[in-house]
Amino acid sequence: MKTGQPWRVGMGDMQILPGARHRPPMKRPMWIIVLISLVTVFLICAYMYPPQSSAACYIFSSRNCPEISYWLPPAPAREYTDEELASHVVIKDILNRPPIQSHNSKLAFMFLTRGSLPFEKLWDKFFHGHEGKFSIYVHSSKDKPVHVSHYFSNRDIRSDQVIWGKISMVDAERRLLANALQDLDNQHFLLLSDSCVPLHNFDYIYDYLMHTNVSYVDCFQDPGPHGNGRYSEHMLPEIEKKDFRKGAQWFSLKRQHAVIVMADYLYYSKFRDYCKPGLEGRNCIADEHYLPTFFHMIDPAGIANWSVTHVDWSERKWHPKSYKAQDITEELLRNITSIDVSVHVTSDEKKEVQKWACLWNGVQRPCYLFARKFYPEALDNLLHIFSNYTAI
Ligand SMILES: *[C@@H]1O[C@H](CO)[C@@H](O)[C@H](O)[C@H]1NC(C)=O
Ligand SMILES: *[C@@H]1O[C@H](CO)[C@@H](O)[C@H](O)[C@H]1NC(C)=O
Ligand SMILES: *[C@@H]1O[C@H](CO)[C@@H](O)[C@H](O)[C@H]1NC(C)=O
Ligand SMILES: *[C@@H]1O[C@H](CO)[C@@H](O)[C@H](O)[C@H]1NC(C)=O
Repeated sequence: MKTGQPWRVGMGDMQILPGARHRPPMKRPMWIIVLISLVTVFLICAYMYPPQSSAACYIFSSRNCPEISYWLPPAPAREYTDEELASHVVIKDILNRPPIQSHNSKLAFMFLTRGSLPFEKLWDKFFHGHEGKFSIYVHSSKDKPVHVSHYFSNRDIRSDQVIWGKISMVDAERRLLANALQDLDNQHFLLLSDSCVPLHNFDYIYDYLMHTNVSYVDCFQDPGPHGNGRYSEHMLPEIEKKDFRKGAQWFSLKRQHAVIVMADYLYYSKFRDYCKPGLEGRNCIADEHYLPTFFHMIDPAGIANWSVTHVDWSERKWHPKSYKAQDITEELLRNITSIDVSVHVTSDEKKEVQKWACLWNGVQRPCYLFARKFYPEALDNLLHIFSNYTAI
């Protein structure tokens, strides 16, 4: 007979052992050792291949059995502080309310700049003909901007100094939101920098944002030094390390989320106090962690997890790639606008690449509506090809 099955091989081997049949019967201690070995092998197998039936669960009390969990006392729920409970009920209530209906929905373009906007002429071209469907807010942290487009005149809000990496960056974002929320027609709130340019025409961007119910907040888990390495246990008990997230600051928030950011003081104050450059040897940047972590905790399904503003970190330098005048070609812009997969790379040694399709209402679509960073000298070339690259 063929010895196809492994256990047959074993039995056959035993049978041809010389003199095996003539051995005297085993003594009692030998039987005990054999019995213990068999039981041990059985238990190891049972552990490695957990049983699936509930009867087997009863016997082995395996981790994989759902029934078992009912026997254990539930994990003690942490008792919330007064502030935490208040914060939770307010956030839940806002999330459960239907969005404010407006007959004249507008996009709020919130520019966080140092001074004048180098691409104002390009934005002028972008906004032209779409009056009534947008509003502009400019927060200039250093110099009073000189405006060349009438869309931008008198749109400066009261501003304050912004120091890179510090909470003053988040404060400026909140100041822009507070101003833009006063207009009840504003439905989506876009944060843009002075080095951002539009990748599409106005109608495309308007439809993309108005016909979706999520906010575009960049959010991913980075176990490396530039991610979880910046977490401080002082943020406990409200913010646990497992919830700490990272993402670029350039967001697009739906109105409901913008109101929630206004309502939040508790989580904001945790980042203000314990996420800053130089604290305990960590270089925590509040604007890269506060909103990603906050929205991951309160409404993970309500954010897209990527930013609609493209930036190219592929050179893996301290600063992202910046485009000069000679870089501006229709091919470059088409390349950026055709990206439909969002990519994040962790900062640990593994440099794990996290990729996910950009799903817009369940359909894969290009991820980006804006791009940075462009040198001011790129303006003329951008103006020259704008109508071409935004025509779709
Ligand atoms: C968004 O709308 C889709 C269906 O249109 C729904 O399945 C989803 O739950 C909604 N998401 C949020 C965050 O409201
Ligand atoms: C964003 O990521 C979270 C996990 O962190 C996930 O629960 C959520 O569904 C994602 N959002 C969308 C719109 O896919
Ligand atoms: C555009 O993408 C193609 C294909 O990935 C690449 O070969 C080309 O160099 C890119 N062009 C620019 C200007 O980035
Ligand atoms: C725009 O596209 C058309 C057709 O592809 C082309 O003939 C024209 O030269 C382009 N214009 C510029 C400014 O690149």
